[in-house]
Amino acid sequence: MITKILKADEIDVNSTSINEAAEVLKRGGLVAFPTETVYGLGGDATDPDASKKIYAAKGRPSDNPLIVHIADFSQLKAIASNLPDTAKKLADAFWPGPLTMVVNKNEVVPYETTGGLDTVAVRMPSHPVALALIKKSNVMIAAPSANTSGRPSPTKAEHVAEDLNGKIDIILDGGPVEIGLESTIIDLTEDIPMILRPGYINKQMLESVVGQVRIDPAIVVDSDTTVGAKPKAPGMRYKHYAPKGELTVVKGGQDKVIEVINQLTAEHLADGKRVGIIATSQTKDLYLKGEVLVIGDRDNEESIAHNLYDILRRFDYLGVDYIFSECFDTPSIGQAIMNRLLKAAGQKVIEV
Ligand code: TXA
Ligand code: MG
Repeated sequence: MITKILKADEIDVNSTSINEAAEVLKRGGLVAFPTETVYGLGGDATDPDASKKIYAAKGRPSDNPLIVHIADFSQLKAIASNLPDTAKKLADAFWPGPLTMVVNKNEVVPYETTGGLDTVAVRMPSHPVALALIKKSNVMIAAPSANTSGRPSPTKAEHVAEDLNGKIDIILDGGPVEIGLESTIIDLTEDIPMILRPGYINKQMLESVVGQVRIDPAIVVDSDTTVGAKPKAPGMRYKHYAPKGELTVVKGGQDKVIEVINQLTAEHLADGKRVGIIATSQTKDLYLKGEVLVIGDRDNEESIAHNLYDILRRFDYLGVDYIFSECFDTPSIGQAIMNRLLKAAGQKVIEV
């Protein structure tokens, strides 16, 4: 298959690239498109064959359910059953935006899309290209992140092309995404709403709208309950976002972290290995050797979220054997950043 890459900076619902992509979706094909979080790989959520094609293109296990992207609240009502009042409150507060809600599904959504579950994950993205595509096609779009299973999520059209060129019909190139980390997932089928995946919309923001919110104990870092617990979101059970080099997070006071990373880097270089370091604008000049890449600025935590996946891919191109990273448990998005970083590291942390 030849994958067409179409520019989609023009957000007009009637642009030719949106029209062409909408036609592909309507006839059961696959389109990668930008959202404000990461690029998605879309197909018709109500078409079992389209969902099967998505799993095949990504090499994704078929028990890992897809998120359904909608452009109007009425579409949520059309695919949910027993929709709780909290759904409307959260939609009013955060949609369109980086929040996914898990609700009970009805027969409109096939089990191929939900990985066999009786619940469905739904989100209304805010990216104008994503909204235009859903509206123009009038298709509810099932879309996981548009990466090969096990690689970092794509935050640029080039990342999508690297992984999926030749496997899908169209890539809509809308430039780099804004947030850079996948949406927050909240499960509304529990008595108390539960966060299954942390994201830009954090616990405090959710609690300000619906009162008490829990975090799936299996995904809480540093919690005793994490050990051996099984995350409720199937995708959180897999090792994810793994860079080719062995990544270790170094945690502690800044001076000590830099000293230890410099020392470990020197040791690996002496062994003839290549080493990458994830630094910030504040610390980049303090590392003595190795491939130092700046993830962002400590005074702007959004910059760190924005660049994380791109940095992990860049270390793959550089072909480093080891990667060391500082810790980024920043106030607002820090939980989401550390969740992804620690997964990429296979939870390898050195405390100094
Ligand atoms: O920001 C995002 O959410 C991006 C963009 C494209 O919208 N999408 C995304 O999809 O991250 P994906 O497939 O990479 O991650 C979906 C996650 C997986 O961890 C999956 O297991 C979980 O959502 N999920 C989907 N349906 C679920 C359900 N019914 N119950 C629990 N978890 C569910
Ligand atoms: Mg994904």
